[in-house]
Amino acid sequence: MSAEETLILVKPDGVARGLSGEILRRVEAKGYRITDLRMVTASRELLAEHYAEHEGKPFFAPLLEFMSSGPIVAVRAEGDRVIEGFRSLAGATDPTTAAPGTIRGDLGRDWGVAVQQNLVHGSDSTLSAERELALWFA
Ligand code: RTP
Ligand code: MG
Repeated sequence: MSAEETLILVKPDGVARGLSGEILRRVEAKGYRITDLRMVTASRELLAEHYAEHEGKPFFAPLLEFMSSGPIVAVRAEGDRVIEGFRSLAGATDPTTAAPGTIRGDLGRDWGVAVQQNLVHGSDSTLSAERELALWFA
């Protein structure tokens, strides 16, 4: 059986702040393998599909605005339990309260805007990973 795979995104805030290298360093230092990587300025269509589960929520429009505001680094990573492992590396959604030691906890903060700018995305299940990898690495 091949190792588990996940989709990691360095969001536009991470790229703009020059943190792509630091974030990928943490993924590799943990022991996961990066098997594909591309820089992409995402269309609204791609983002609406990616975040389809959040359609109708108050932060949906600001989220799409934020995610299309600049280039994203999309990463295919693999390793046993990488989905759970990367979510743990990323930390909680809210960067203000994300635990120190995590990507969001160490490198993120609240910027007083309509949606949390929290540096990274990671797939949250094997089903999401499969769906999202197909979207970003078509
Ligand atoms: P992601 O999907 O990006 O990996 O993040 P997540 O699972 O930790 O969080 P999720 O609930 O899926 O939300 C998706 C993204 O929407 C933004 N968000 N802002 N109240 C807010 O300001 C708020 N709620 C969600 C964040 O960028 C979050 O990562
Ligand atoms: Mg999510």
